[in-house]
Order: sequence, then C-alpha cells, then structure tokens
Amino acid sequence: MAIPIVPAIAALLLLSLALYRFIIFPASISPLARIPSAHWSAPFSRLWILYYRSREEETPTIHAAHQRLGPIVRVAPNDISVNSVEGGIRNVYAGGYEKGDWYQNIFKNYGVMPMFAMPDHGPHSKRKRMLSNIYAKTTLQTSAALSTITKVLMEERLMPRLRQVAQNGKPSEFYWLFASLTSDIVSAYMFGLAQGTDYTQQPDVSARFFAHYKARQRYQFWPQDLPSLTRWLGKAGLKWLVVPNWVDEANASMQENVLIMCDAAEKVVSEAGDGKGAANPEDWPNVYAQLRNALLKEQATKTDMTGSVEELVQEQRLAVASEMLDHLFAGFDTSSISLVFLAWELSRPENTVWQEALRNEISTLQDKYDAKAVDTLPLLQAIVQETLRLHAAIPGNQPRITPAAATLGAPGHSISDLPAGVRVQAQAWITFNIALLLLPRDLCTMGPELLLP
Ligand code: HEM
Repeated sequence: MAIPIVPAIAALLLLSLALYRFIIFPASISPLARIPSAHWSAPFSRLWILYYRSREEETPTIHAAHQRLGPIVRVAPNDISVNSVEGGIRNVYAGGYEKGDWYQNIFKNYGVMPMFAMPDHGPHSKRKRMLSNIYAKTTLQTSAALSTITKVLMEERLMPRLRQVAQNGKPSEFYWLFASLTSDIVSAYMFGLAQGTDYTQQPDVSARFFAHYKARQRYQFWPQDLPSLTRWLGKAGLKWLVVPNWVDEANASMQENVLIMCDAAEKVVSEAGDGKGAANPEDWPNVYAQLRNALLKEQATKTDMTGSVEELVQEQRLAVASEMLDHLFAGFDTSSISLVFLAWELSRPENTVWQEALRNEISTLQDKYDAKAVDTLPLLQAIVQETLRLHAAIPGNQPRITPAAATLGAPGHSISDLPAGVRVQAQAWITFNIALLLLPRDLCTMGPELLLP
C-alpha cells in the first residue's frame, strides 16, 4: 500500500519542528545552553525542579547543584539560579528585574494585588513610596504609640503567658507563642492596639489559627507553580485532588478576619475626621490610615472623581485590605520564625554563655522600651544578625524575570546576552554563607562574636 505523500511530509515536518523546539534548541542553541544543567532533564522539562518544589525541598536541592556545578545553574528550560553577590543577588534584586506572575498567582487577596505581588516596577514603586515612611526606622524608633504597644504586650500579655508556661512545667510550642506575640505587635501598629489581634492571651484560639496557617502553606505549590493545571482542575471540580477544600476555607476565613480589623480601623480614622487621631495614641491605625489616606489623595487628583469620602473609602476597601493582609502575614511569620531560632540557639548548652551576656547587656538599659537605646546594644545586634544568617526565615526562591540581554553569574563565570523572560533566583541564605567562605554547620559553633564590632 502506498503511503500518502502529503500527510507523511507534514508529519515529518511537525516531528522535525518538535525535535528542534523541544530538544535541539534548548539543549544546544539557546543562550541558556551555556549554563550547566542541575539535572540531565533540565534543558527539556520543568519536571525535575517541580518535583522538589512540590516537596518544599528546592533550597537544599539548588544549593547542592551549585556546590557541584558552580555559581550559575540551569534548573529548567527557562529557569536559572545564581549564587553570587556580583552578577547574582545585586543584579536580580537591585537591578529593577520584574517579578513575573509567580507572586500574583497566590498573593492576590480578595482578588486584588498587594504591592508584594505587583509584577511591574512602576506601580510597585508607587505603592512602596506611599508606605515607606510609616515603616522607616526613625518613624518606628520615635513612635510613642509603638513604645506603649510594646510595653503593654510585653508586660500584660507575654509575661503572664510565660509564667503560665513555666508553672505548667510541660513542653510548649514556642512557634505559636512567638507567632501570637508578633501578630499582636504587627497588627497593633497597623490597625491600632484595640483593633489588632490578641492571640498571646488566647493560646487555644491562636494554636488553631497558626496550625491552619502553616498547614495550608504546603498546598501553595499548585496554584503558584502550576496555575493553569490547578485552574483547570478547579473548573472540572477536581481541585480537591491536589488542594483539599479546607485550604480555600481557611484562606477565606483569614481574609474575613483581616477585613474585620480593617473596618474597625476605618471607624477610628473616620471618627477622627479632624485629624487629631485616636483618644489613645496606641489605638491609632498607623499603617491602615497611611495607605487609606494616600489612596484617597490619589483618587482626589483624578479629574473624573466624584462621590463622598465614604464612597471612595468603600471603593478602596479591598485594595487596602489586600495590602494589610499581606503586611500582617509577612510581618508575623518571618519575625516569629526568627524568634524561634533565636530562642533555640540561646538555649543550647554551648550558647548559654551568650544568653547570660545578653541578659547583662539588656540590664544596662535605663528604659527597655526605648527603641533607640535597644538599637545600640552591640551583642543584641550581633545575635539577631547571626540568627538571621544561620536560619533565614526566607532562605531563597524569590524569582525574578530577566530583562533583555542580561548578564548573570559571578565574575569569571558570567553568561552574557541572556534573553528576556528567563526566570532567575538567587538564594540569599546560601549566597551569604558562601560569601563568608564558611559552612553554616561550622558557624553554629562559633557564636555571635563573628559579627561583633
Ligand atoms: C525577620 C523578619 C523579616 C524577614 C526575614 C523578611 C524578609 C523579607 C524578604 C526576603 C522579602 C522579599 C521577598 C521577595 O521579594 O520575594 C520581604 C518582603 C516584604 N516584607 Fe518582609 N521580612 C521580615 C519582616 C517583615 C515585617 C515585620 C513586615 C511588616 C510589618 C514585612 C513586610 C514585608 C512586605 C510588605 C514585603 C514586600 C515588599 C515589596 O514588595 O517591596 N516584613 N521580606
């Protein structure tokens, strides 16, 4: 039987194109082909790295690849990692690289993007300018409200709780305790003490909340790294196969909680219409008011603006809430992870000497709630920095997207003329430790004298 010539040629052409597009080009012609592959399949497929991402094992896996292959590695056809300061962290995070879709895939609260998820540099910087003053070190250090908040939380919430734990004599989950404290502090500054969370005094409520909060995180992989597949499964009613239903319910309930705090903060701001603030300064919603007023001001400059302040507030309600939710969660989780490690390090037998020295240093303070004085304590500084270095709360995987003709990789290993649109990450934790030419394990036994002036 004769083979039909036209379909045969078409099939051959298609096969050749596929061969070129998926095998020959990525493996030998793409500019990324000059970069060592972390796995043999990396030039052809994302499966290898997706597997480790899904298991939350990306950081050590990429670290191992850098140790084998050097300071720049390819982890998927369009995905690379660099672990140097020059040609790495500096370019990727301070060189105006855009964020891409990865952030907005999951950090779109109430369907609105907060600053953290904004992929484009322009809108991101604009939002950042609206907020930077309220988080500036001088603002925080001179804020009488924050000083009162800290005092109330330490003396009226934390100390009684610690006494309870000590009297109880049983092991206690300190992540929950620190997460309660940091959530209370961050939310009190953002929404006002009276409107913020009060988890420190409610061990059972907070344990439930934080257990849910953490358990949810392992399912972020699906909407974040495989958004189309997850959407498709959702449409087919099969999303539960990869993300259990309770995860969406937990997310919705967290959003609801933050909206309640925002509405309570709005009441304080709108009632203080004359600009005098709250009756008690510590109840003023610093961050909420700053963003709400900045967005209203921006609205007011629009020529077609109509409507009352209440209507404008209503229009901005979800945009402000989305930003607030992000700050609250970004703020309490990172800080509590760091505090857990700090406490753990100081409790280790070889470090109790530093615990004692830190107590002595703190006891020299005239006023423990004077943030400026606290900031001048050298041993405290060193211990905090050493904890952040050894146990980074966010050790890596903050991807960015290359601009056209990028050059990346440490001097002597750099690859130039990379195309636009390549996903690149530089893992801060690895880079910092390699920059010191020491391995973390060695540093654990060295103590914080390393960073003392
Ligand atoms: C030990 C404490 C903290 C650590 C280690 C930490 C770490 C980080 C890192 C690595 C990023 C960049 C993430 C990326 O680009 O993918 C980031 C962003 C951010 N963090 Fe923190 N953070 C800490 C505390 C806080 C606190 C206390 C707040 C707020 C109260 C906060 C709010 C934010 C926000 C809003 C962003 C997004 C900034 C932007 O998009 O420009 N963080 N943080």
